[in-house]
Amino acid sequence: MSEGRKAFDRYFQNIKQEYKPNIVIVNGENIADTNGLSEEIYKDYLKRGVNIFTLGNHAFSRRDYPEVLSNKYIARPANYGQGTSGNEYVEYNYNGKKLVVINLLGRIFMRDPIDSPFSKMDDLLANIEADYIFVDIHAEATSEKLTLAHYLDGRVNAVIGTHTHVPTADSMVLPKGTLYQSDAGMVGAKYGIIGASVKQGIRKFKTGVPERIQPEIDGPLQFNAVFLDLDQNIIKRINIME
Ligand SMILES: [Fe+2]
Repeated sequence: MSEGRKAFDRYFQNIKQEYKPNIVIVNGENIADTNGLSEEIYKDYLKRGVNIFTLGNHAFSRRDYPEVLSNKYIARPANYGQGTSGNEYVEYNYNGKKLVVINLLGRIFMRDPIDSPFSKMDDLLANIEADYIFVDIHAEATSEKLTLAHYLDGRVNAVIGTHTHVPTADSMVLPKGTLYQSDAGMVGAKYGIIGASVKQGIRKFKTGVPERIQPEIDGPLQFNAVFLDLDQNIIKRINIME
C-alpha cells in the first residue's frame, strides 16, 4: 500500500473524531500509487467517510480516467476545455444546504495549455447557486494561488491550495471573509521528495535526467489537512509529523 494511504489509515479516523467535520474533501490526484484516482479507491474511501474528491494535473494519468471521472463526487480541474471528461464541479447536499466544490489548475510552471482559472471562475459563478462554495486551486506558485483567492474573496467561502505537497503556515480569513491557505500539504511519506524517494530525487537533480516516480517507502509519515468552519469563518491547520 502507498505511504499516503498508510498515513490516511493511521490518522484519519482519529482526526475525524476530534474535529467532527460534516464533509470531508480529499485531493486524490496521487492516491493510486502517485498516479491519479482509481474507481476502487474512490468507492473504498467513500465508505470510509470521505465525501468528495478533487484532482489536479494527474487527473488524466490513468487509462480508465473517463470512467473514473464520471463518478458523481469527483471534481476534475474545471479549467480544461470543452469536451473534457468528468465534472466541472461537484454539488453536495448536507442538512438542507448545498455545497459546491470546484477544482482548478494553475497555469504558472504547469504543463497543460489550459484556460484561465480566473475567467473560468467568473463563468462558473455566474451560473452556480449554492449555500457554500469551496475551491481547491491546484497550482505550483503561491502568487497565483493568493491572487486567485483575493479575486474570489467574498464570492466563495474558501480557497485552499494543493499540488506542492508542502503545507503553508499562511491560513487566514481574507478581508471579505473567504478562508485561505496556499497549500494544505500532503498525506504520505515524511522524508520523501513530495512522495518520491529521496535517493531518486537526489539522482534526478544531480543528473537532470527524468525518471518515473519511485515512492519513498517504510519511513515515518506525515498527515496534513485543513479544518474549515464555513459558518463561523474558522480555518485551522492540521499538521502531524512523525
Ligand atoms: Fe499535482
